[in-house]
Amino acid sequence: GAPFFAYRDGELWVEGVRVADLARAHGTPLFVYSAAAMRAAVAAYQRGLARRDALICYAMKANSTLAILEVFARAGCGFDIVSGGELARALRAGAAPDKIVFSGVGKTRAEMRAALQAGIGCFNVESRAELEVLDAVARELGVRAPVSLRVNPDVDAQTHPYISTGLKDNKFGIAHDEALDAYRHAAGLPALQVVGIDCHIGSQITSTGPYLDALERVLDLVEAIEAAGIPLHHLDLGGGLGIEYRGEQPPAADTLWQVLLARLDARGHGHRRLLLEPGRSLVGNAGICVTQVLYTKPGAAKNFLIVDAAMNDLPRPAMYEAYHAIAPVRPRHDVPEVVWDVVGPVCESGDWLGRERALAVQAGDWLAVGSAGAYCMSMASHYNSRGKAAEVLVSGDRAQLIRARESVSDLWRQERALALD
Ligand code: LLP
Repeated sequence: GAPFFAYRDGELWVEGVRVADLARAHGTPLFVYSAAAMRAAVAAYQRGLARRDALICYAMKANSTLAILEVFARAGCGFDIVSGGELARALRAGAAPDKIVFSGVGKTRAEMRAALQAGIGCFNVESRAELEVLDAVARELGVRAPVSLRVNPDVDAQTHPYISTGLKDNKFGIAHDEALDAYRHAAGLPALQVVGIDCHIGSQITSTGPYLDALERVLDLVEAIEAAGIPLHHLDLGGGLGIEYRGEQPPAADTLWQVLLARLDARGHGHRRLLLEPGRSLVGNAGICVTQVLYTKPGAAKNFLIVDAAMNDLPRPAMYEAYHAIAPVRPRHDVPEVVWDVVGPVCESGDWLGRERALAVQAGDWLAVGSAGAYCMSMASHYNSRGKAAEVLVSGDRAQLIRARESVSDLWRQERALALD
């Protein structure tokens, strides 16, 4: 696709804006996003699903900053939410309530009530117990809750165990063998309206195979459920499509959907309304995190590059040993390249952003951490009393601050001085 992040005239640009200008204006660590990259990612799905009845529900857990939600809402997306907080954010960003689906294994009654009152499109229910509670809450409100059951197709997404969700032994969804029974149960509950079926097998999936396997398994269920007299209006195939962090070659969204639609058609399900819940593939490569080198600390065993971004800003390396590319904002040729471990200031050995990276840098230089659009800011914490970073959105040659840097008073706003003796 178009190079939304590219070097020109010896420095890194985001669309038509110099990254260095943004770092100077807003300080670091700083997340910088490309609106065009997000729109292009949505467009790839839309191309793949052209002329189909389909709704892309952006899985906002990937990045839930309001302005980013607005970009997706304006591109026609609905939202996949997993909490009352995400519901409120989506509505605040102008989401159409009927384009919201609510996933997650632990929805509270209060969250269900809020979502029913907002009039969301579908609850993706993950257990029989949740069906009972949702039915009771809907009855109290005098409404019917639209539901899909999230089924667990028991396929291996071939990804990191922490982000694989479609196998029997994890907490998500209703086991394939129990799904038909659960559907019968749901259909008998007065305040529920069965509208669809849902599955999500994992994240950072880099091949079509697991999707095809899941699709076949879900279609088997669809046929069994409908044979039992329970019509299903839509099929939600979840999210999970991977991105390139380092050399991975996931299928493009349009290619993936070409293959999946061919299989749907072949099995006579081509007419069905489709829902998707992509997160990472819509934002992951639409963002970078700009960080400044604080200190170089060469040593006998290792050379450390200490930067001002840390595991609280970018938790993926610490949590999953994830790889993120790290590159200078302004490559220099006046110092030798050295192999560094790029680490943050947080007091944990796990606080690293990249290991054994060859970089020609000095203290004061800015570095861009790549693929930082998804699951970075949304997973950021305040550990070590570090305020959350600022965020800037670029569109063309314009840049807008979409989240101001947190101050220390933001951090303790909810705290109370000791009043006991
Ligand atoms: N739908 C459901 C029900 C999900 O649980 C998820 C992600 C998605 C959709 C979106 O998946 P995506 O398209 O983004 O792969 N923090 C981890 C990823 C956790 C994914 C959790 N569920 C990471 O940084 O790799």
